[in-house]
Amino acid sequence: MASGRGSNAKALITYCQSSEKFEVGCLICDQKDAAVTQKASSQGVPSYTISRENTSLKSLSEKRVLHEEKILEVLSRHKVDFVCLAGYMKVLSPYFLKEAQKRKMKVVNIHPSLLPEFPGLNAYERAFREGKERSGVTVHFVDEGVDTGKIILQRSFERHPTDGLTDFIKRGLEVEHKLYPMALEKITELS
Ligand code: GRF
Repeated sequence: MASGRGSNAKALITYCQSSEKFEVGCLICDQKDAAVTQKASSQGVPSYTISRENTSLKSLSEKRVLHEEKILEVLSRHKVDFVCLAGYMKVLSPYFLKEAQKRKMKVVNIHPSLLPEFPGLNAYERAFREGKERSGVTVHFVDEGVDTGKIILQRSFERHPTDGLTDFIKRGLEVEHKLYPMALEKITELS
């Protein structure tokens, strides 16, 4: 599940397509015209744009449940074992997490920092501005908090003295694209 650019989704799909162990079910995006849907389609992956309903007639929590029910229906139809969040910008509700658990789906996320440092938005930017000499990437299970779930794998990378923010993020993304597949491998080896 993703919301925007989709470089992690692309890397994961590429990895799974060359692996005997994993098969990609589908890509779910909550934003219309996001680059990630184009990427997934060009890799032959069924892609669904499921936006949250925009009506003032329902409360936010009603809209959230309706949205998540639609997502769960698609995930179930594709019989997925893993729900991989890769730049998915909405926080999943306890309802979604319980339903996923009932349906034996593991929900994982990739976050661009060495958690518990810098949870939440703009983690690369914050690490860079704080002048961190090392930063990193975390893949973790998703729980009800924001980036608080059990850590599966972490890798750090160095900030080079000449790095601007763009170089720093590029370095981090290269780590992300390798770490996410490694984390899936690790989960399957443990279970
Ligand atoms: C990545 O930095 C990921 O760690 C974070 O959101 C960003 C998504 O990038 N959760 P992309 O869409 O995968 O290129």
